[in-house]
Amino acid sequence: MKKMLLSVFVLVGIVVIARPAFADDTEALYKSKCQVCHGPDGKGSAAGQKLGVKDFHSAEVQKETDDALIKSTKEGKGKMPKYEGKLTDDQIKDLIKYIRAMK
Ligand code: HEC
Repeated sequence: MKKMLLSVFVLVGIVVIARPAFADDTEALYKSKCQVCHGPDGKGSAAGQKLGVKDFHSAEVQKETDDALIKSTKEGKGKMPKYEGKLTDDQIKDLIKYIRAMK
């Protein structure tokens, strides 16, 4: 019984600790994988703009559905590399949420 209680505490502990780290992960992922082209604010770096990135705040990108943006990230679009197999579906979903929330 004591053992079981202990493992419940450990589990709850892991969930509590892991949760805030999750959001940071998405930010870290964006910084390491996407920022080179899309810039820290989503407007596009100098190199990205040469490749044809669009400002994530623009009406053109905002009018796209989440599914369309997920698809572009998975399969690539124009000079945008494809991330299928490099990132999990959940990571891609979180990145799209992150991009949407950018101000
Ligand atoms: C090598 C540069 C490069 C990197 C790295 C890159 N992108 Fe892109 N991305 C592009 C370009 C260029 C486009 C515009 C494609 C087009 O419309 O022709 C684009 C378009 C997009 C779009 C579609 C928006 C639109 O313009 O319709 C999304 C969403 C996106 N990128 C997300 C990401 C995410 C998430 C990452 C990181 C996992 C990432 N990109 C990394 C270059 C890059």
